Amino acid sequence: MLTSLWLLLSFAAPLPGFYVSFSCPNRKQCQKALLSDNDIFLPCNSSESRWYFFLLQDEASWSNPLSSATNIEVVADSGILIRSPSPSQTGFYHCRDKNGTQLVQYEIDFQDVSTLHITHKGLGQKPLQNETLSLGGKGIIFTHWEPWQDCNRCGGPGERKRLGYCYIEEPQETPLPCWLYLGNMKVGSSRLRPEMQVEACYVPCTMLMLDYIAFDNFEISEELGSAWLTCPLGSIYRPVLWEADNMPLTWQGQLSNQDLDAILEPSNGGMQLQVYQPGIYKCFVQQELMARFSPKPFRDRAETLGEEEGRPHREAGETWKGKARPVHKGLKVVLLLGTVLGLLGVLLKTFHPPRGKRRDQMLLVK
Ligand SMILES: *[C@@H]1O[C@H](CO)[C@@H](O)[C@H](O)[C@H]1NC(C)=O
Ligand SMILES: *[C@@H]1O[C@H](CO)[C@@H](O)[C@H](O)[C@H]1NC(C)=O
Ligand SMILES: *[C@@H]1O[C@H](CO)[C@@H](O)[C@H](O)[C@H]1NC(C)=O
Repeated sequence: MLTSLWLLLSFAAPLPGFYVSFSCPNRKQCQKALLSDNDIFLPCNSSESRWYFFLLQDEASWSNPLSSATNIEVVADSGILIRSPSPSQTGFYHCRDKNGTQLVQYEIDFQDVSTLHITHKGLGQKPLQNETLSLGGKGIIFTHWEPWQDCNRCGGPGERKRLGYCYIEEPQETPLPCWLYLGNMKVGSSRLRPEMQVEACYVPCTMLMLDYIAFDNFEISEELGSAWLTCPLGSIYRPVLWEADNMPLTWQGQLSNQDLDAILEPSNGGMQLQVYQPGIYKCFVQQELMARFSPKPFRDRAETLGEEEGRPHREAGETWKGKARPVHKGLKVVLLLGTVLGLLGVLLKTFHPPRGKRRDQMLLVK
């Protein structure tokens, strides 16, 4: 028992392949816009590497991230994992070898996901338009779109999304992600925000549906009325699909304000689902079934409610978010357990590659 617990805990350490990362074209210097609140892995392939960062916001000198940032974990010899980065962590991240030679420099703009502008083509919603930067210069604010992600479903109507980052371009200059351009300048413009666009898609199935993880330990609090389900290996940077009793949950349904019993969390691209009804919920990543949840009504105990934390924050004023309520303390423990079990399940999947086509678990953001 203890051994298996220990195994579980040691596996809970970050493993690079499970996290979203990206390739650095010339391997030395990378400029990249990403979204806040979504875990990202920055690779640096060197033994005894040292990391330094420089945050644009505080104009401080170079510092060692180990001592100052609690959400950054160094994964020996392979890189750093930044969990739930905040927009204030926009800046330069240097990896040096033990002799102090720079191996790679990342210039990362963590754009504020709470301002994400979501549009659906099927609903005729339009992305943001170009706008002139009101700084006296000739800068244009525009959205730099990433490629469309894969369709989130096969063999039936699905949806695919693409992320768009805020960029600023001056004539004859290379465009820059907005906050790498602005530095610590404060500019009040509602155009300065990242985007997500969704459209319908259809692809035939080519893969066999293989093993997945079944969670039967989730409970919906009767008092609070909901549970949060997290899809293993899900990310805003990957195609994720949820099904409730075999019915796909779509952004189209959510964005057109239908009355919903389950809500895709916008700030992580639907990696998490908030459910209000018992049922069978399945999640797919890259069209592959990852997990099945069967949340049941919670048998409430007389227990004080936990403080609200660890839950994606929501913007007021958007109708599908009306049902947001705090998560029960007991539920959080269950969620944590679920995460550990999920990780174990994923490991089992990885270490026992089934027959048939398997993709690399390391999915790159292009
Ligand atoms: C990392 O370095 C090792 C040894 O130097 C090399 O074999 C491996 O291919 C490198 N991996 C990547 C992703 O560059
Ligand atoms: C670091 O410096 C030592 C001694 O100057 C040298 O032998 C070694 O090859 C260097 N290592 C790297 C990775 O540059
Ligand atoms: C917006 O600006 C970008 C960058 O200058 C440009 O590539 C794009 O064509 C512009 N879009 C429109 C609709 O003008």
